Amino acid sequence: MEVFRNRKDLSNYIERQREMGKKIGFAPTMGALHKGHLSLYEAAHKENDLVISSIFVNPTQFNNQKDLETYPRNVEKDISMLEQTGWVDAVYIPEVADIYPNGIESKEYNFGGLETEMEGKHRPGHFNGVGTVVEELFRQVKPDNAYFGEKDFQQLLIIKKLTENLSLPIKIHGVPIYREANGLAMSSRNERLSISQKEAAKVIHETLVKVNDWFRVLTIPEINQRVKDIFENQKGMVLEYFEIANEKTLKETDFFYKDQNYRAFIVVFVGEVRLIDNMHLD
Ligand code: PAJ
Repeated sequence: MEVFRNRKDLSNYIERQREMGKKIGFAPTMGALHKGHLSLYEAAHKENDLVISSIFVNPTQFNNQKDLETYPRNVEKDISMLEQTGWVDAVYIPEVADIYPNGIESKEYNFGGLETEMEGKHRPGHFNGVGTVVEELFRQVKPDNAYFGEKDFQQLLIIKKLTENLSLPIKIHGVPIYREANGLAMSSRNERLSISQKEAAKVIHETLVKVNDWFRVLTIPEINQRVKDIFENQKGMVLEYFEIANEKTLKETDFFYKDQNYRAFIVVFVGEVRLIDNMHLD
């Protein structure tokens, strides 16, 4: 596996591969890799000639300085995990100046309203930061296919919108959420949980499973109340938001229309750690 630590080395490599007509699959990450990340490369490996990873903790998408500082980093371990899969041909680990040559600043995007829902409300500026880094990575890596996890479902839709708005010739693929044995969605932030917090945090996924049972049986206000009640009784956890939203527009719904698809979205603080999850309702 090749490791590129600056833009120029990556560009030379990409140019050579494209001249050979290789079909490129790409999945960007912020490192502290786990099996959820690796599942993106498994998907990419099946559909491309060449698979590229990137590791870059993107400063512009953190609206909280402490979250940026405490974000887990372990690049050497990440490289060896990627290498061991056998699915990844090259990893790009840029310096800040490779991504932000003119200073660390976000561009402003219009994602047609997707950016003002949920994470957009709770993390101001977050999606402009994500858009900025992903656009730049797309322009440098020039993939044919790019893979994003459904764990960050809003991000996945926003990246689809970004490629459409910019007319980039890249197909965006969503990859299902990879979970721990107890149901907890895998996340780099799980590293900051104690063993007992990690065990307790399974209630997040259990709640989503219950919501799916209640879907189209209870009313939405009833479901919302039950979810609130569950977390009011969880010591050391605070529910930041729970919403059932239209799966296309991400607008919160107060009524289930027949021919629409819905998804439940949840964010919970377990101690200081902010955990996100979601589930398609059927
Ligand atoms: P990061 O949180 O490192 O996630 C990188 C990719 O892995 C994202 O597409 C995310 O949805 C996916 N992923 C994370 N945990 C997953 C899980 N348990 N199952 C399936 N997929 C999972 O998301 C980002 O980084 C950044 O915002 C980024 C897109 C790299 C831009 O900086």
